[in-house]
Amino acid sequence: MSLPSSVRLFEVGPRDGLQNEKDIVPIDVKVGLIDRLTAAGLPAVEATSFVSPKWVPQLADAAEVLAKIARKPGVSYPVLVPNRKGLDGAIAAGCEEIVIFGAASEAFSKRNTNCTIAEGLARFSEVCEEALQRGMRVRGDISVALGCPYEGEVAPAQVSAVARELLALGCYEICIADTIGVGTPGKTRAVFEEVAKHVPVARLAGHFHDTYGQALANTYAALECGVAVFDSSVAGLGGCPYAKGATGNVATEDVLYMLDGLGIETGVDMAKLVEAGRYICDFLGRPTGSRVARALMAKAA
Ligand code: HMG
Ligand code: MG
Repeated sequence: MSLPSSVRLFEVGPRDGLQNEKDIVPIDVKVGLIDRLTAAGLPAVEATSFVSPKWVPQLADAAEVLAKIARKPGVSYPVLVPNRKGLDGAIAAGCEEIVIFGAASEAFSKRNTNCTIAEGLARFSEVCEEALQRGMRVRGDISVALGCPYEGEVAPAQVSAVARELLALGCYEICIADTIGVGTPGKTRAVFEEVAKHVPVARLAGHFHDTYGQALANTYAALECGVAVFDSSVAGLGGCPYAKGATGNVATEDVLYMLDGLGIETGVDMAKLVEAGRYICDFLGRPTGSRVARALMAKAA
């Protein structure tokens, strides 16, 4: 079984991570984090969300953050958009890439976006049409693809049904997300194999949270399926406000260490990445969630 020779790391710490902080992180710290991540060589940094500030006050400063970052040529700065109003915000901020997000379960869709899966897709249809017309790129995320905090088991067929809809809307990439980190490698393989029957594997990405310590194993299982794009979060920041108890995404440092060890190219510099993690953890006043960062910092001390 051959693994991909290169992987695109899609950093979600500034969005998926900071949306989950109790206290709102100041704009300059968000900007400092994003700029350090791009300086480390990350090709995509999900910068923020244009969602309702009533739902996610942590990211209500999206426009200000985007206005202040040092946009690095060749790097994409995707933003989450839940509806037409979010798209308008993204357009005004000069965004070139948006992320729409559906769910594989009805209960999660309701809690996260106050609508059914079908209603969400209908909203996204209008959003995608307009975004694509303007030459923006659209990515589609599918939450709770490996298990739902409200409904439990999620069948792979439920995930592939949503994936097909997102593909039909024009998403260039579809990201299969284990929002609460309950997946195991066998389940991961089953979901990716099922979705790959309908969506070319080159257009799939994985997004694993590490609640049960399975995220790296799941990443490896997805690599074996041919997946070559992975979301991760510097220092393992994050969780999900609508998924109680879920811990952060797999740490970018940990994924990078594994990929480096496998000889898989990413273009990301470990030392600079660890520094970006140290920067945000110093601000938050807590230790990094990355085991690799902990080990490297202990070794350097
Ligand atoms: P709603 O309350 O049904 O919508 O929320 P509404 O249209 O009634 O709007 C309520 C208020 O919000 C109104 O303001 C709107 O104007 C405003 P009011 O009139 O009361 O003053 N509003 C907005 N403001 C700014 N930007 C907008 C916007 N939309 C409405 N875009 C809605 C529906 C979808 C808006 C809401 O549920 C929402 O924003 N949800 C987003 C929740 C979210 O961001 N969750 C976390 C991201 S998903 C995730 O983390 C999972 C992921 O990482 C993958 C994984 O791990 O699985 C992607
Ligand atoms: Mg997430």
